[in-house]
Amino acid sequence: MTKGPWPQQPPARTAPVTTEPLLTRDYDADPALVHEKLRKIYGPVAPVDLLGVPVWFVMGYEEVLRVLQNPGGAWSKRLRNWKMNAEGRIPADWPLMPIFQVNNSTFQEGAALNQLRHAWTSALAPFQDHGHPGAQRLEQAVVSHADELLGVLSEGGTTGWADLAAQYARPLPLMVANRMLGLTAARGEDVVMDIWRMLDAGPDAAAAFERLYAAMTELGAAKRETPGDDLPSHMIAAKPDITLDELARELLMLPGLLDFTASLVCNVVVEVVANPDVRESLSAGAIDETVNRAALLNPPMANLTFRYALTDVKLGNFTIPAGDPVMLSVAAAHADPRFAGAIDWHAIRSTRAHLAWGAGPHSCLGQLLATRIATIAVQRLFKRFSKVKLALPADQLPWRPSPFMRALRSLPVQYELAREPAPPGDPATGEAPAAQASPADEPAGKPSRSPLWSFLRGLRRAR
Ligand code: HEM
Repeated sequence: MTKGPWPQQPPARTAPVTTEPLLTRDYDADPALVHEKLRKIYGPVAPVDLLGVPVWFVMGYEEVLRVLQNPGGAWSKRLRNWKMNAEGRIPADWPLMPIFQVNNSTFQEGAALNQLRHAWTSALAPFQDHGHPGAQRLEQAVVSHADELLGVLSEGGTTGWADLAAQYARPLPLMVANRMLGLTAARGEDVVMDIWRMLDAGPDAAAAFERLYAAMTELGAAKRETPGDDLPSHMIAAKPDITLDELARELLMLPGLLDFTASLVCNVVVEVVANPDVRESLSAGAIDETVNRAALLNPPMANLTFRYALTDVKLGNFTIPAGDPVMLSVAAAHADPRFAGAIDWHAIRSTRAHLAWGAGPHSCLGQLLATRIATIAVQRLFKRFSKVKLALPADQLPWRPSPFMRALRSLPVQYELAREPAPPGDPATGEAPAAQASPADEPAGKPSRSPLWSFLRGLRRAR
């Protein structure tokens, strides 16, 4: 591996009195350039200002991995260990505070974390463990939902324009979320619309969050009473003492996690469209590889929620004082010359040693599911369309400004429908949907009547 720009063991420094804001227009346009600038000035760890709050931004691969793995227990995820917050020095209206106050498993440690992770692992198994009949049913449902969405998107004609983010990649995982939550079709639609309001952080986001929290609590109570084959029921079975409040906070993670999946779908589509070799052979294996490559090049969870130093810790060229927060940048770590420089970019199989799924005690528990959804979404898209062309050069695609995500705001394409007969599960053919009927599938049967499908139809732009 190549050495960084620093001489051997530079003396540890303390933070400068003033720091540069991280989230500038330059960052929205091209975070990689900002990372490189910071890396040149400070090395693998840089002091930055995150919306008015001082934070250590960690960009070195080894440093990010070390904090994630937390071998000596030097780092905590608990908000109470953030000194500035404990001292009341974080502005009450700091926009990211609601995320840190949710107090779900993301911010737990020790036994509490282990119990919640056990509940997640057991509850996700029926949906993602290969060979599980539930996982196969879910895969069929993803195929079916993908085909429905593509059917609506292309209703206007054999050629046209589409925004694959809004019309395909974002709704698809949310339909999966509804199904996994075991919501009825009508309730599921309200929930999907509220999830969009919450994730888009518009003026009605707070009210949408309140409604979602109430809906998840109500759902948890109903599933405790009458369990089904769904995520909340499996979580209750795995952790019978889980309170309705705890359960609601865990379930509220699902839409966000599936929105990361949506951004992965978009990033993979861009990779496929931009790379004729990949386009040539769209076997499951080739897409799987492209999913990994997209996660490596543009990790959807670009920066992670904070960890707090429990003692003074030497990291990069600084000593991080106890009680200070670090924000680990997976995106910057992947571009760290010590990591990126050692990768063979021409290898048929890209490295799996990346950090897009995290590592250590908080590593991702839904990687299989997210990868499967992304693979199916991309396969169905290229089966249905014989041509997909970006409507903008790849380097001009608009990204959503966000401290945590690397997600396209829209993915405008020109498409041409394939001539071959419509695939099974497509409502346009009248063929039976591939998935077995369940309450969460009801919108598939009557797309014309529901508000969600009317909304999606409103986005069509046929030529
Ligand atoms: C492309 C989509 C996804 C990406 C890139 C992703 C990535 C990650 C990463 C990087 C973490 C670690 C966060 C940290 O250490 O601070 C994480 C945690 C987690 N992920 Fe995923 N994830 C995705 C989708 C999903 C899905 C679909 C599920 C489940 C339905 C899921 C379940 C979880 C859970 C439960 C955790 C929290 C574990 C904990 O805090 O102990 N993820 N994910």
